[in-house]
Order: sequence, then C-alpha cells, then structure tokens
Amino acid sequence: MTQTTVLTGITTTGTPHLGNYVGAIRPAIEASKETGVSPFYFLADYHALIKCNDPEKVHQSSLEIAATWLALGLDTDNATFYRQSDVPEIMELSWMLTCVTAKGLMNRSHAYKAMVAENEAAANNDADKGITMGLFSYPILMAADMLIFNANKVPVGKDQIQHIEMARDIASRFNHIYGEHFTLPEAIIDDKASILSGLDGRKMSKSYNNTIPLFVPEKKLKKLINKIKTNSLEPGEPKETEGCTLFSTYQAFANEEEVAEIRKQYAAGIAWGEMKKVLFEKVNAEISPARERYDSLINDPKFIEQKLQEGAVKARTITTPFLIELRKAIGIHKFS
Ligand code: TRP
Repeated sequence: MTQTTVLTGITTTGTPHLGNYVGAIRPAIEASKETGVSPFYFLADYHALIKCNDPEKVHQSSLEIAATWLALGLDTDNATFYRQSDVPEIMELSWMLTCVTAKGLMNRSHAYKAMVAENEAAANNDADKGITMGLFSYPILMAADMLIFNANKVPVGKDQIQHIEMARDIASRFNHIYGEHFTLPEAIIDDKASILSGLDGRKMSKSYNNTIPLFVPEKKLKKLINKIKTNSLEPGEPKETEGCTLFSTYQAFANEEEVAEIRKQYAAGIAWGEMKKVLFEKVNAEISPARERYDSLINDPKFIEQKLQEGAVKARTITTPFLIELRKAIGIHKFS
C-alpha cells in the first residue's frame, strides 16, 4: 500500500500552550496513529530566526516543543521527528527553489503585505521598514520543508493555507523547468480541531499574551483558568454557551454527553466559579499524565537530543539521495 506522507512543523519561538495542543499537536499525534500514514513532524528552528533574534529563547523553545511532542506520546518509531536545522538538505533545496520563485509571488504573501501596509499606515517613507529577506522569502523555506519529503498532506491553521499554495506554485515551476521531481502538497484544515480562545476571549496566541501554557504546574493551571474572562451574570441566572470561552474550552476536552450536560447546567444558571472548577478538572485530567512525563523529559535534554538525532538520521536517508537527484537535474554534479 502506498503511504501518505503527512508533514507539519512548529516554529520554535515560544512555550507550547493549550491552543497549540488542541489545534495542532493533539490532532497531529492522532493522525500519526492511522494506518497508511507516514508522519514527519519537525521543529522549524530556522523559521524561528525570522521572528526572533534571541538565541536563548530559540534554544529553550526548541527544547520545550520537543519535550511536548514526546511527553504527549508521539511514537518516534513510526513518525520521523527532527529539527529542521539537522537536515541541511532543506536549506540547500531552499536556495534551488529561491532561484525558480518569482519575486512577484512573494510580493503577494499576506504576512509581507500586512507589514508593508502597517508601514504605510504609519506614514513611513520606507514601506519595507523592518522587513528582512527572511520574512520576505519565508514561504520558500516552508516550501522546501514540504517538498524535500514530497509531503502529500500538510495539516496547518487557516493562516498557513497561502503558504501551501505558494509551495505548489514553486514546485510546479521547478517541475516545469527540470522535470517531475516534486509532489504538490495539499493543505489539511481540520474543522473539528478547535481554535481556542485565550484568557481575554480573543484567539489564544503568543502575540496577544493571553495564553495558558500547556504544562504549567497544576496550581498555576487552576489560577489561569480562574482568570478566563466571563460576563457578570450571577449564579442562578441562565447563561449563553455561544461565545463563552469557558464553554468552548470545555468542548475541546469533553465528549458529547458531557458537553450536553454542561449545556443544561448553563441553562440552569451554573455559577462561573463552579464552571471554572469543572473546566479545570477536565483539562487537568487530560494533561496531567503528560505533565509528569514532560517534567522529567525537560530535565533530560540528552535523551531528547538522542531522539532528535535518530530522527535526523532517518530523515536524511530520504533527503540525501533526493538532493543528489535534484543537483543532477539542475546541472550541479561531478564531472564523471
Ligand atoms: N510556518 C508554520 C507556522 O508558523 C510552521 C512551519 C514551517 C510549517 N514549515 C512548515 C508548517 C512546513 C507546515 C509545513 O505555523
């Protein structure tokens, strides 16, 4: 049976939070257990440089994200789990792709356009102020991540769809010039995977500073859940589930019957304090076994390193011969 290559990466610029967990990591680990799937999950550490010039932070975030995947039970015998920077063929491919990518394609990138628009709104004479070539060509490195493994499916958030489309464009262009080498990747947007709201009700995100880190100690988790914003309805007053962060977070952790039961309790006027307690119990029950593993993993960076090195070796059994093929295709190879 032909295997479907499922690939996704996480940029190493922060501490994983509940939103990353329910939106990306939990579904990716589920997907890795399906038969017929060959999963490739990686730490996008070269992508981190685009947003973050703090070496300590990039390093620490890589450790935390790696420990998170392992603590949550990613089976590294089945999945190929690696650091982007440990597979140098990715960077080499990135240059080959850069040379077939139209600048105009990159001009259309949402992330780039948003920054230009910000500069223009601020009446800067330089529309490109603060924009590095890393940010500008970010989609090309991302294309290399996918194309080097001929990924079929790429589970990502909606904000990344454009990048997958660009990867398809870039792959087609390379294939057109040098022959069929790349599979065109497809974005997978999981509608069931919830987008969690943060403490203030906006989307949970590092940039809003409203996150609940995934593996904070139990006490701290309770404290943070208590901080989630609610309205001022009193106990006994019926409450809306729609648009309620406590409810939507509960939904991401509970089964259908439990959710139906909580719906009833909202109608019956459950107190916010009580709902926060219920939510804490639910989230904590799911997280706490992994939290213990996380705490011991984070104190054993050697073990994590070993796993990543094994992953890199596995990854390079694919990328090394593929890169030789690609170099040949573009005319860069030995004289005999
Ligand atoms: N750009 C992605 C993000 O910020 C991370 C990423 C890098 C990625 N390379 C990738 C995701 C390749 C999927 C495939 O979320």
